[in-house]
Amino acid sequence: MALPKAELHLHIEGTLEPDLAFELAGRNGVSLPYGSVEELAAQYRFYDLQSFLDLYYATMDVLRTGDDFAELTRRYLARASEQGVRHVELFFDPQAHVARGVRIEEVVDGIGAALDEAERDLGITSGMILCFLRDEPVESADRILSAGLTRTDRVIGVGLDSAEVGYPPALFEAVYRRAREAGLHVVAHAGEEGPAGYVREALDLLGAERIDHGIRSIEDPELVARLAHERIALTVCPLSNLRLRAVPDLADHPLHRLDEAGVAVTINSDDPSYFGGYIGDNFVAVRDALGLSADQASRFARNAIEASFAPEKRKAELLQELEAWRG
Ligand code: HPA
Ligand code: ZN
Repeated sequence: MALPKAELHLHIEGTLEPDLAFELAGRNGVSLPYGSVEELAAQYRFYDLQSFLDLYYATMDVLRTGDDFAELTRRYLARASEQGVRHVELFFDPQAHVARGVRIEEVVDGIGAALDEAERDLGITSGMILCFLRDEPVESADRILSAGLTRTDRVIGVGLDSAEVGYPPALFEAVYRRAREAGLHVVAHAGEEGPAGYVREALDLLGAERIDHGIRSIEDPELVARLAHERIALTVCPLSNLRLRAVPDLADHPLHRLDEAGVAVTINSDDPSYFGGYIGDNFVAVRDALGLSADQASRFARNAIEASFAPEKRKAELLQELEAWRG
């Protein structure tokens, strides 16, 4: 049996596999600038965050209808289930879709329909986290928050993603305040390519409950101690960090050093279609490059359950499943 996992850092648009991209392009009459699935797959080579984002935003153009979002999410959930995912809090980027003329209701209802099916058929529980694109104007974030606040039946929180350097968390202080006051959970990408100072800002100015990536915190020992003391989980994505060259080699990844310092490290997949693996593959990659004992693996899985926004009763069930796995 696979280690039971909660996935806390997963962009649903980043699960778009080349074959589905072509299928949806055909269905929707969208032309992709590649001749074949293989040719598209060959583009999945990156040298930094921006080189990935360029392809990520271009390819998601094939997503047009609620059914497209449902099919995308269904395919992710099937693979996630095979790799032991029992709970997922997935990110989505509504500004990118609204800008293409897709209504946010299509996005939310499409993803939501697949999440309901997965709860019924696979026993996977879930929530949706609306991400603001930090390289878009803050007014745009404010407008999409207003739209999101009409859908708190599905949206449990907000996050912050896209190009990091030059777009510090401070820009979004007021938007985050409004989200918190509306009762939403708040997380933020910080310290992926950006400096440890952005992680501090995300905590101090945004009130972030978890930090997505956060690996550059390792450069600031005082911050590391604070993350450990305040039990702020980091949603680490090893294969993403490798593919986007946030670390030169997986063997240099700081996740064990963060863990040893008492930080609540979790392992996640980020954009699994683009980075060469789903969550279980990330655990395997860590094991192969850095070593991963059963104790460490189950600690990372427990950290994710505890850092999730699942109701306490569901967390208790998941912790029990984890205990059963440990035997
Ligand atoms: N970082 C920032 N923005 C993103 C990412 C990421 O890893 N994936 C999708 N949007
Ligand atoms: Zn991410």
